Amino acid sequence: MRSIYLALWTNPVTRFIYLACITPLNIIWYYLLHRKFLGDPIQRNLWKDRRSDDFLQVDNVEGDPYYINLDKAVADRLRGFDDSLYLEVGCYYGYRLNKFARELPHACFIGIDLGLENLLFGKKEFITAPNAVVVNADACFLPFRDNSIGVVFTVVCLTHADYSSIGKAIDELTRVCKHNLLLVEVDNRPMSWHRKMAILNWDYGYMHQYEKLVGDKMKLVSMTPLRDTDNHPRYTFFEFSKPVMSP
Ligand SMILES: C[S@@+](CC[C@H](N)C(=O)[O-])C[C@H]1O[C@@H](n2cnc3c(N)ncnc32)[C@H](O)[C@@H]1O
Repeated sequence: MRSIYLALWTNPVTRFIYLACITPLNIIWYYLLHRKFLGDPIQRNLWKDRRSDDFLQVDNVEGDPYYINLDKAVADRLRGFDDSLYLEVGCYYGYRLNKFARELPHACFIGIDLGLENLLFGKKEFITAPNAVVVNADACFLPFRDNSIGVVFTVVCLTHADYSSIGKAIDELTRVCKHNLLLVEVDNRPMSWHRKMAILNWDYGYMHQYEKLVGDKMKLVSMTPLRDTDNHPRYTFFEFSKPVMSP
């Protein structure tokens, strides 16, 4: 399916025809059925196939003002939580896990991801922080005890959790989280109409309302879109906290 999609996408004429046909279907399927018209990709295979290309882009990402700003904003929030144990859910090959672990050397960082091959690659080639470890696990079945991790965070992971699994993933993140939950994800609600339509055509991204999914499991502290130079709210920071429990 993905190779057909890519072939259609690279040709401008078929891309236009494809978008003209698919956009109304994606809109109807999203707003009425809350599903993807073309079905769901297998996340583990998708990210395994993308890794080499994405890895080549690391230098570009490092020099991109939006991502410099994003990483600084995430690191500042993580530092502000002042905890000793952080869990990144959906760490890919550990690019940001390594970066944040280096910035907060006093704390321990655990990264989990579905992709075993990507984690092994990260461990061999990339993750140099001595305070970072990775675990192959699914966000829907986290191998940690209730309230055992001070800070749980994501950077564009849950945006790739489909509509049938997102509820379970949120249950798990809120279950293991002891104090603070930070979700940096895509929210199409503050976007312009044009961008909203474009994002609904994204074949491996899903639009979720994180504050509603978390509900009363944790307290919503803030929802803050991080705008790019076109004033487009590309990613939104959703921050939640758990009341301190008496021992
Ligand atoms: C955009 S990448 C994340 C990038 C990474 N957070 C970073 O900032 O460098 C999305 C990742 O989410 C992972 N993912 C998707 N669904 C998942 C799930 N249910 N459990 C664990 N990881 C998942 C994918 O395997 C992929 O590595």
